[in-house]
Amino acid sequence: MSFSPPDHIRRIQPYVGGRPIDEVARELGLSEVVKLASNENPLGPSPRALEAAAAALAEVNRYPDGSAFHLTRALADHLQVAPAQICLGNGSNELLDLVARTYVRPGETALTSENSFVVYRLAMAVLGGECRMVPMANDRFDLDGLAATVDATTRLLFIANPNNPTGTAITATALRRLLERLPEHCLCCLDEAYFEYRDPDADPVDGVALLQEGYPIAVFRTFSKAYGLAGLRIGYCVTSEAIAGDLNRVREPFNTNLVAQAAALAALADPDHVARVVELNANERARLADGLRALGLDSPESQANFLYCNLGRLAAPVYDAMLHAGVIVRPVGPTAIRITVGLPAENDRCLAALAAALEETT
Ligand SMILES: Cc1ncc(COP(=O)(O)O)c(C=O)c1O
Repeated sequence: MSFSPPDHIRRIQPYVGGRPIDEVARELGLSEVVKLASNENPLGPSPRALEAAAAALAEVNRYPDGSAFHLTRALADHLQVAPAQICLGNGSNELLDLVARTYVRPGETALTSENSFVVYRLAMAVLGGECRMVPMANDRFDLDGLAATVDATTRLLFIANPNNPTGTAITATALRRLLERLPEHCLCCLDEAYFEYRDPDADPVDGVALLQEGYPIAVFRTFSKAYGLAGLRIGYCVTSEAIAGDLNRVREPFNTNLVAQAAALAALADPDHVARVVELNANERARLADGLRALGLDSPESQANFLYCNLGRLAAPVYDAMLHAGVIVRPVGPTAIRITVGLPAENDRCLAALAAALEETT
């Protein structure tokens, strides 16, 4: 008999990330490749974070502080919560997985929206559990639809806000209304990976503020996006002390590494850098959206660092043509692509490659 995993593991489709720049350059013989596929930060991290990371490298013969004492306290100060309300993770991705592993029993389910972040489904699939999906309304989470679908088995409700891949956001008023309706056995997991990019004038959700208002939720944030530390893998969950305690009990003892802890601590102390990142993103996102409109393409209003663009035709040939022109975007679903907002020159190159790809593939 061969050695094989249970059926629910065999059925899992592995996560496919954006293709690395050097691999595409090598394969297609291109000298310059622009990657706008993984919602990374084109400005990079704060120079202070880089300095702290470089200094920390000299200490990597030591294990990291498993409790991340300094970073946890700095985050608690920054967010005005107690340190015991925080659990750090190897990216927020690890924490999304961890919350499922910690709370979901056999037969229980999770709930999210169609066209949202695939990791919610993966976290449940590994447990052999079902992640139900409610259709979107207008490329947005349908909160009434979600509330109506919650049943006695629903343990976790995953909401990405702003959502990946559509970039759309819900309002704080609408989310409060949903939270009032959620039964106690269901934990709302609010994924705020793109929190910093939201439109401050659109009744934006602030998960930590909702927590402080008394809503029993778990908020997931990351240093991967606005802080530019995706490659170091560090994120956090802010929630009640009880839930953070459970997550801290289940996580690996040294789940965040020493270099990432040092870099995140320094990045947190440089809010001006984050402000520059957010400003560049807002300006370039608007310009990219205008460019898409000029090509006759539609994209829902994004509050993230990417745009979702329904091409109204098969996306694969357009993606391929752009790839051959040295621009990596992300196909999402059969007819849409997601474009990460890059530097001005990268966005210009992307729009030119998209225009040419649309011509070539008609
Ligand atoms: C909605 C959403 N949540 C979470 C993550 C995970 O981010 P990380 O694990 O890098 O913190 C991502 C990454 O792309 C995301 O798009």
